[in-house]
Amino acid sequence: MINYRDFRVLWLLVAVSASSSSADYEYTPVEDPLQSVWDRLDNLSQEIFKVFQEKLENQFQQLQREMNEKLESVKSKVEVKTSAINNNIMNNLGHVDNKMAEINRTITSWMQNYYDGHVRNDLDEARRKIEEHVDVKISALENKFVGNINILMNLLAGNASRSSGSLLPSDATVPAGSSALVEQRISNTVTTAVTSLESNLRDQLTHISNVVTSSHSIVDTINTHVSKINDKLSSGDGETGTGTHSCLNDSIAIELISTLEKARETPGFLPRDCSDHHWQQPEAPTGVFQIYPTMDSKAPISAFCEMGDENAKETGGWTVILRRRNTTFGLTNFNRTWAEYRQGFGIPGEGEWWFGLGALHALTYRQPYEVRFLMHDIERGYFHASYSNFRVEDETRNYRLIVNGFTGNVSQDALSTKHHGSPFSTFDRDNDQLSSVNCAVSNSGGWWFNSCYYTTLTAPFPTSANRDAKTIRWLNDNNLWLVLDDVVLMARPAGYSARFNAHLHGE
Ligand SMILES: *[C@@H]1O[C@H](CO)[C@@H](O)[C@H](O)[C@H]1NC(C)=O
Ligand SMILES: *[C@@H]1O[C@H](CO)[C@@H](O)[C@H](O)[C@H]1NC(C)=O
Ligand SMILES: *[C@@H]1O[C@H](CO)[C@@H](O)[C@H](O)[C@H]1NC(C)=O
Ligand SMILES: *[C@@H]1O[C@H](CO)[C@@H](O)[C@H](O)[C@H]1NC(C)=O
Ligand SMILES: *[C@@H]1O[C@H](CO)[C@@H](O)[C@H](O)[C@H]1NC(C)=O
Ligand SMILES: *[C@@H]1O[C@H](CO)[C@@H](O)[C@H](O)[C@H]1NC(C)=O
Ligand SMILES: *[C@@H]1O[C@H](CO)[C@@H](O)[C@H](O)[C@H]1NC(C)=O
Repeated sequence: MINYRDFRVLWLLVAVSASSSSADYEYTPVEDPLQSVWDRLDNLSQEIFKVFQEKLENQFQQLQREMNEKLESVKSKVEVKTSAINNNIMNNLGHVDNKMAEINRTITSWMQNYYDGHVRNDLDEARRKIEEHVDVKISALENKFVGNINILMNLLAGNASRSSGSLLPSDATVPAGSSALVEQRISNTVTTAVTSLESNLRDQLTHISNVVTSSHSIVDTINTHVSKINDKLSSGDGETGTGTHSCLNDSIAIELISTLEKARETPGFLPRDCSDHHWQQPEAPTGVFQIYPTMDSKAPISAFCEMGDENAKETGGWTVILRRRNTTFGLTNFNRTWAEYRQGFGIPGEGEWWFGLGALHALTYRQPYEVRFLMHDIERGYFHASYSNFRVEDETRNYRLIVNGFTGNVSQDALSTKHHGSPFSTFDRDNDQLSSVNCAVSNSGGWWFNSCYYTTLTAPFPTSANRDAKTIRWLNDNNLWLVLDDVVLMARPAGYSARFNAHLHGE
C-alpha cells in the first residue's frame, strides 16, 4: 500500500533540488501544485487518524474495563479464599488451644492431687510410725536402764538380788566386782537397739524415697507424652472426624495407655473408671464404685461397674453408661434438660440411670474406648452390638458422637450408620439435622439425633408390641424396628480384656 505522505516528501525533495543553483542554498518555497490535495489529504488523514484513534481508544478502554472487572473478581475471590483459610486456621488453633488447656488442666490437677493427697500423707504416716517406733524403743531402753541401775546399785550395796527382766541371767548370782561386765552388757544392748533402729529408719526412708522416685518418673513420662501430643497438635492434623482417637498416633496412644496402666499400680492412684477398680481388684463383685473421671479428687461420682464372669474376669471392667428397664424402683423420666444429660441422673445400680456426658467425654478423650449395647426385644429376645471405637467430644462441640468398628448380632449397624458425627440434642438444645422439628422433643429423650434416628434408647417404654410407635428402638432387618424393654450401654478402654489378661498372667 502506498502512503500519500510519501508523495509529499518526494515533491519537497524535488523542489529543494530545483532551487539548489542558488549560491547560498537559500530555500525558496516552490509552489506545490498538489498543495490542496495534500491539505485535503491532511484533513482526511486527521479524520481517519481521529477515527482510528477513537476506535483504538474505545477498544483500549473496553479492554481496560474488562481487565479491571476481571481483576476485581479475582481480587474478591482471593479475599474470600484468604478469609476462609484464616477462619479455618483460627478455628483449628482454637480447638488445639482448648485441647491443650484441657490436657494441661487434667494433668496439673492430677499431679496436684497426687502430691497433696498421696505423697504428703505417705510421708506423714511414715514419720508418725518412725516417731512411734523411736518412742517405744526409747521407753524400753529407759526401763532397762532403770532396772539395770537398780541392780547395779544393789550389787554395789552388796545386795545380790534377782530381778526378772534384767539383763543378767535370771538365775545367776552376780559376784561383787563384776560391775564392769554388767556395764559392757548394757552398752552392747544399747548398741544393738540403736543399730536396729537405724536400719529400720534406713528401710523406711528407702521406701519413701522409692515412692517419691516412682511418682516422679510417672510424672516425667506423662510430661513426655504431653509434649509429644503437643508436637502432634502443632504439626497440624489435630482434628479428625474419622473416629480414631484424635491427635494421638498409634504408637503414642499405646505408650500413653501403658503409662496410665503403670500409674494405676501406684498406691493412692484415683480410679478413673470401672476398669481401674477391676484392674486393682479383679475379684471385686459387680456393683457401685466411686470413680474420678476427671482425675479430680474433689469430683468423685458413683458408677455401676460390670466386673465380668466369675471364670472369665477379662469380660469385666465396664462402666455402665445407660440402663433402661422396668423395675420396682419405677420408671425414670428421660425427657430431661441439657444440663441434666451433662451431669447424669438416676441412681446407678437402682432402676434406670444415665452416666453423664461431661464424665463420658472426660473418659473417652483420655484414651480410646470401646462400647457394648445389650438389648432385649419384647418378643424376639436378646441382641448385642459392640463398637471398638467410641468417643464423645466436648461441650463446645455439643458432645458430638464418634463411633465405629461395629460387631454384633443385630442385623443393622444402626448407631454408626445414622448417628456417627452427630451432636447431642435435648428438648431445650436442638442440634439435630431437621430444621422443622426438634427430634428430642418429638421423641422425648436426649440422644445423638441426626434426622432423626435409627436408634433411640432414651425414648419412653413400649406399652404395646407396636413396632412403629416412638418408643425405645433400634432399626433392624428389612427396616423393622426392634422394640426394647431392657437396655444396657457400657464402656471401657479399647482392647482392655487383652491387656488385663497379660497383666493377670504377669505380662
Ligand atoms: C482543511 O481543514 C481546515 C480546518 O480544519 C480548513 O480550514 C480547510 O479548508 C480544510 N481544507 C480542505 C481542502 O478541506
Ligand atoms: C499449663 O499450666 C501451667 C500452670 O498451670 C502453665 O505454666 C503452662 O504454661 C501451661 N501450659 C500450656 C501448654 O498451656
Ligand atoms: C536388797 O534387795 C532387795 C530386793 O530388791 C531389797 O528388798 C533390799 O532392801 C535390798 N537390801 C539392801 C541392803 O539394799
Ligand atoms: C507415631 O509417631 C512416632 C514418633 O512420634 C513415629 O515414629 C511413628 O512412625 C508414628 N506412627 C504413625 C502410625 O504415624
Ligand atoms: C412396668 O412394670 C409394672 C409392674 O410389672 C407394670 O404394671 C407396668 O405396666 C410396666 N410399665 C411399662 C411401661 O412397661
Ligand atoms: C445375640 O447374642 C446374644 C448374646 O449376647 C444371644 O443371647 C442372643 O440369642 C443372640 N441373638 C440372636 C438373634 O442371635
Ligand atoms: C418433655 O419435657 C418438656 C419440658 O418439661 C415438656 O415441655 C414436654 O412436653 C415433655 N415431653 C413429653 C413427651 O413429655
